Amino acid sequence: MSKPDNEEPAEEDVYAACTSAPLSSYKLHHAASVRDVSSYWSKLATAKLEWFSPFPSGSALTGALEDGSASWFSGGRLNVCHNAVDRYCSSPYDRGNETAILWEGDEPTSVVRVTYDELRKEVCRVANALVRCGVRRGDVVTLYMPMVPELAMTMLACARIGAVHSVIFAGFSADAIADRIHDAGSMWVVTASAGSRGGRSLPLKSICDAAIGKERCAGIVKKVLVFDGRGEGGDAWEGIEGVHVRFTPLVASMRPACPCEWMDAEDPLFILYTSGSTGKPKGQSGRPERGGVCDRDETTLARIGRRRYALFAMVTTANSFGLAQQTGPSDPNAPHKDVYACVADAGWITGHTYIVYGPLLNGLSTLMFESTPVYPDCGRYWDMVQRHKITVFYTAPTAIRSLMRFGDDPPKRYDLSSLRVLGTVGEPINPAAWKWYYDVIGNGRCSVVDTYWQTETGGHVITNLPGITPMKPGSCTLPCYGIDLAVLDATTGKEITSSPAEGVLAIRQPWPGMARTCLGDHQRYLAVYMKPYPGYYFTGDGCRRDSDGYIWITGRVDDVLNVSGHRIGTAEVESALVAHEAVAQAAVVGIPHEIKGQGICCYATLVEGYPETDILIKELFLQVRTHIGPFATPDMIIINGALPMTRSGKIMRRILRKIASSELDTIGDTSTLSDPLVVDELILKVAKFQ
Ligand code: WT7
Repeated sequence: MSKPDNEEPAEEDVYAACTSAPLSSYKLHHAASVRDVSSYWSKLATAKLEWFSPFPSGSALTGALEDGSASWFSGGRLNVCHNAVDRYCSSPYDRGNETAILWEGDEPTSVVRVTYDELRKEVCRVANALVRCGVRRGDVVTLYMPMVPELAMTMLACARIGAVHSVIFAGFSADAIADRIHDAGSMWVVTASAGSRGGRSLPLKSICDAAIGKERCAGIVKKVLVFDGRGEGGDAWEGIEGVHVRFTPLVASMRPACPCEWMDAEDPLFILYTSGSTGKPKGQSGRPERGGVCDRDETTLARIGRRRYALFAMVTTANSFGLAQQTGPSDPNAPHKDVYACVADAGWITGHTYIVYGPLLNGLSTLMFESTPVYPDCGRYWDMVQRHKITVFYTAPTAIRSLMRFGDDPPKRYDLSSLRVLGTVGEPINPAAWKWYYDVIGNGRCSVVDTYWQTETGGHVITNLPGITPMKPGSCTLPCYGIDLAVLDATTGKEITSSPAEGVLAIRQPWPGMARTCLGDHQRYLAVYMKPYPGYYFTGDGCRRDSDGYIWITGRVDDVLNVSGHRIGTAEVESALVAHEAVAQAAVVGIPHEIKGQGICCYATLVEGYPETDILIKELFLQVRTHIGPFATPDMIIINGALPMTRSGKIMRRILRKIASSELDTIGDTSTLSDPLVVDELILKVAKFQ
């Protein structure tokens, strides 16, 4: 289908150019997969993974969604590292000499290829070094690392020895690291002296040191294992005797062989922190001792990934990108060889599933990209596609929108003809960005897969399948195999079976990638995901289903923001603000943002005696950056004498949202507020800010 270049595709437009298989085959396969999810996934688990001892036949799935007891393949023993690395080094796969990790550093000239054989040896060395330092099966190892191969190696080494990795995105602050170390009781921290991003050095070790120096980490962290930074002078760092371990030379001195622990499919593999909805409002208790009042809990949820997640990661990687599990050495003359690249960060679930585990479990090569899309210039991605002949490229709408601003010329300077599939993830993609991706990057020949999923789902749950599902720009289309989707009426909770429909998105049956609990707080897990709509897993997203059954995500219906694909709880930002002595009260809402999708607008009232000065406002911006990280930097901070409250003292976030987005005609009735004039004051202040 072709349209004039400058026209946005309409929602009802269907792009079927890249499809060859009939959609009816997908529909039959999907219906069969959800008729009996247990048998669907157990057949795949047996066929796709190597088990040391098989799970009992006939009981692949036990337990139920309602009480969070659903478990998969329990009793079966496997090792995820064996499945992702070792098995590909020997017969029948024999891929030892093939590239496992293709690392592209901050500078386009720093490219390193790690073969499966090398990866196996390095992972074993890291595993032995971890054991030498005292790490044992079940221990939580915190990773605060740049995007270098050592990060993937350490994750895999943890998987190998039965430890649980907790990767913290390198954009998080010392405070956020300290919270996570404390929460998980993590005795071990692995970091690097420094990383680099966009030509700037990331002082990771010093940020880690600041984190473990905080009171709440005292007595928890036993050792900090520090890799030398890549590049010259990376070993020039100072450590404290007995705490810091020079990890690079220690790893190098280790034997390149280490046995794999036999793990139960339900044993934890990783912890990953994510922003959640508050679940339970806490009233006006807050933290008066730290100055201000935040009327809700902080909202970080720690998702625990189980070993059986490997199956979901493996199968969705193959299906969603049209990739095949590699079952033999590559034929150098083969016409079609996939080069897969997901340019996310391994500190998020996208990196866990679609940089590290998913591709390696399929025996593919995976790109690890340390830099940014605009370094050294805005052609970096396309330069990489050309140099490595990338066939599958996976990024986020926010990156596409920011590159689109530079026009069509930068991508046109590169040969992008290797591309076959373009993926997007993290938020709904607006049709204009979709069309740019499809036309300018994909030259109208590539499938654009819009993958909808969440940290908690572990992998894709809705996406079009390349070559199979006709695309509609802006719709993530149809559920993945084995995912039993439901659209529920938001108020009654009743399932809407007819289409078109509008409601909230839920999943009716368990799947192997799903999170089973929140670390140390099972009730919280039940409250957020299972209780809102009994009998269903609740995603927290609103959606429409059109008459073709296609899903259109309309965004979160809870208090979670999606800023450039980063998930940020409004309550997290609020508690960062009220931790400042001058802030009495804070309320945070999302605003539409052209590039980031959503921006952050903060409202605050001050403690008596603190004047509103430019310095204070600057401090508050900094406050959020240091408490959470630079990616959570607010777009606006509005200080006022009061915030709109109900007569019972509840902040009216709905009204604050309307004011921040300048949707003044839909503010509604404000007469129930304790002080309706506050609304006019805020409208003026927001207008001034813009
Ligand atoms: C939330 C999950 C999944 C990895 C990255 C984000 C939104 C995600 C899409 C998409 C529309 C999407 C949802 C979801 N989201 N992908 N393709 N279309 N919305 O993971 O941080 O756990 O965030 O991101 O709102 O609930 P996450």
